[in-house]
Amino acid sequence: MPRAVFDYIDGGAENEVTLGTNCQAFDVPLWRPRSAVATPTCDLRTTVLGTAIEMPLLLGPVGSSRLFFPRGEEVAAKAAGEAGIPYVLSTLSGCRMEDVKAATTGPAWFQLYLVGGRDVALAGISRARAAGFTALVVTIDTPVAGLRERDVRNGVKELTGRSLSSLLRFGGQFLAKPRWLAGFFADGGMMKFPNVVIPGEGPMLYADVGAALEQSATVWSDLRWIRDAWKGPIVVKGVHTADDARHAIDEGAEAIVVSNHGGRQLDGVSPTLRVLPEVIAAAAGRTEVLLDGGVRRGRDIAMALCFGARAVLVGRAYVYGLGAAGGPGVARAIDILRTDLIRTLKLLGCASVAGLDRSYVDIPADWPDATRGM
Ligand SMILES: Cc1cc2nc3c(=O)[nH]c(=O)nc-3n(C[C@H](O)[C@H](O)[C@H](O)COP(=O)(O)O)c2cc1C
Repeated sequence: MPRAVFDYIDGGAENEVTLGTNCQAFDVPLWRPRSAVATPTCDLRTTVLGTAIEMPLLLGPVGSSRLFFPRGEEVAAKAAGEAGIPYVLSTLSGCRMEDVKAATTGPAWFQLYLVGGRDVALAGISRARAAGFTALVVTIDTPVAGLRERDVRNGVKELTGRSLSSLLRFGGQFLAKPRWLAGFFADGGMMKFPNVVIPGEGPMLYADVGAALEQSATVWSDLRWIRDAWKGPIVVKGVHTADDARHAIDEGAEAIVVSNHGGRQLDGVSPTLRVLPEVIAAAAGRTEVLLDGGVRRGRDIAMALCFGARAVLVGRAYVYGLGAAGGPGVARAIDILRTDLIRTLKLLGCASVAGLDRSYVDIPADWPDATRGM
């Protein structure tokens, strides 16, 4: 991939502290395995929102995936379906939501931003319902796009503005990647946002996305009209604290995702694993709690489940595979995570993901933990 595209995926906000600590947090708690236990087979199956899935993993919403590989959202959704796990489609995707849903045999959820305003969002919600998406994921941590300095240095803003001078200044990195460039043009060139249709204008343009996000922050009171329009399960993504967890549950969330957007929004927030116990305690079993951020190994999935998460979402872990090799690359990424999870279960002496619990980990004494009074 050209540098600007790779860095858009790989980078985080500001000093990239949270990007790093999200991953490092999984190295801190210590395992308490049970030895001398034979686990010839391991059962990875679980449910999310009542739907049976083959392993406790979802492919999270990643905007602009079509830039990483031709028809990126469709090929990723197909790979998720083949693995028996859900795919979550971003509002800011380059493929039409109907085509993405048709590409997968697995469950598909739609992630909602209010870009373009309420009427545009209502139209998106009703399209998502008609297309067969089964849950709506409302992301609440994006009142403005985070400052991703790699994007600034790579000229992403200038490039999407498409002036000749910016192309001359920043375009060289694309010429260095002819295979990516050929795929990009064969796939129709610069993507638009076909799931954000502005009345009288058509699909929102790429260059307009920053301003559109800033004008469309999602606030708690929006959850009411969103819920009335959707009439199905709502998942609130971007919860960092017990207070926000309770707020989301009060607004009717069926599940919450402890997420800091993969360290792409407010830099310096706690790694998600560290705040998971606080959120789980606040949820008190009233809603399913999922986690994302920093999951790079099957071991990380096992640890999040020991902490009490129902399942995890991954962003970069599958998108690296998508960029490297399209659908087979995503399948390979899922396979690596699955193999790793099975190995971890065997090493822990636990025959199923349903059996994972707090008894398998030592939560560090200086981490907030509501079950022992913080
Ligand atoms: C390139 C990229 C684009 C993303 N776009 C969206 C998006 O459109 N909507 C959203 O809710 N989250 C988005 N996210 C955040 C992911 O859904 C997820 O929270 C994050 O990637 C988890 O961290 P991880 O990459 O360490 O797994 C994006 C993440 C990446 C890496």
